[in-house]
Amino acid sequence: MSSEDKDEMVVTPWEVRGKVDYERLIREFGTQPLTEELLKRLESFTGELHLQLRRELFFSHRDLDTVLDLYEKGTKFVLYTGRGPSGPVHIGHLVPWIFTKHLQDHFDTRLYFQMTDDEKFLIDDENKLEDMTRYGFENALDLIALGFKPENTFIIYDVQDIDLLYDIALEVAKRITYSTARATFGFQDSTNLGWVFWPAVQAVPCFIHKKLTGENVPALIPAAIDQDPYWRITRDIAQKLGYHKPAQIHNRFLPGLGIGGKMSASEPETCIFTTDTPEVVKRKVWNAFTGGKGTATEQRKTGADPTICTIFQYFLYLFEQDDKKLAEREKRCRSGEILCGECKKELPERINTFLAEHQKKREKARDTLEKFHIKR
Ligand code: TRP
Repeated sequence: MSSEDKDEMVVTPWEVRGKVDYERLIREFGTQPLTEELLKRLESFTGELHLQLRRELFFSHRDLDTVLDLYEKGTKFVLYTGRGPSGPVHIGHLVPWIFTKHLQDHFDTRLYFQMTDDEKFLIDDENKLEDMTRYGFENALDLIALGFKPENTFIIYDVQDIDLLYDIALEVAKRITYSTARATFGFQDSTNLGWVFWPAVQAVPCFIHKKLTGENVPALIPAAIDQDPYWRITRDIAQKLGYHKPAQIHNRFLPGLGIGGKMSASEPETCIFTTDTPEVVKRKVWNAFTGGKGTATEQRKTGADPTICTIFQYFLYLFEQDDKKLAEREKRCRSGEILCGECKKELPERINTFLAEHQKKREKARDTLEKFHIKR
């Protein structure tokens, strides 16, 4: 493989590699940038802009304006997001969930959360169904630990709950041709049949609220941009089935601690799992890729580059709430006043404080898991 191929951007629901050009994704996927104006509108509902909006972690959308228009006129919306439970949860996964909870709190809306054990089973020869299902329940603990409201949160475990999903999945699948699906997802002759059908299942939670309550309201989906192809095909058929088109708000990927790419569980040393011990967190952060220079002397002289530093991203998107302090850190980094060692010491402290709490709540969640399971 030439280095050009290696750097080439690939963003699909199953693979993210290369340097991600978010402007290009907006153009190619045909989504809308999150404008100042739209952010102001959101702020008028929530009182303050969430850190992940202020810092542009969420950067793109579809129909967020439409959803807010409807909301103003008295039509609520529901939230929908999900997780492919192929392993333990890392803090990159928590990012859009934290934002989803912020929306649930401020708009007092339901969240439908889909655990796609079926998807993860189908897309990888190595994955055993029972393992994916088990991870689904384990991963749900991380979601619950973030403080979602049980009366407003409905977790769907695909395999277990398929009876609830199947009729809508069929309605969806019937209206999407193989040719559209192939063009959207890049299916090959060797793609298994389950995988080809499966996108219909991810569409279902966009619509399920009507079946459960009789209310026809749009779904707003906070999710990383790699999931967008699913929503494209879903949006195409929504109105034919008598539903609103689902709206999206898209986030960037939280980088792993290695060079380039998103945090990926397949490279465990480059991601912080929610169950990692303080020592493990320290070690992983210590080995992280930064924007530092070869030697301390050089760095003191020329400064470092926070824009490529994985550690800085964690302060930016999660662990430094204070805008002034963040700007200060950035300035001191660029000027060479601080060296990487300083951030490498501070970040694990923040992560470990967060994880200590999270791990407690995560264990407690075992008792309430059933309360969050979608009811018939
Ligand atoms: N396909 C997603 C994954 O592999 C899981 C998922 C299902 C999802 N429904 C979703 C993610 C809605 C975001 C929003 O992770």
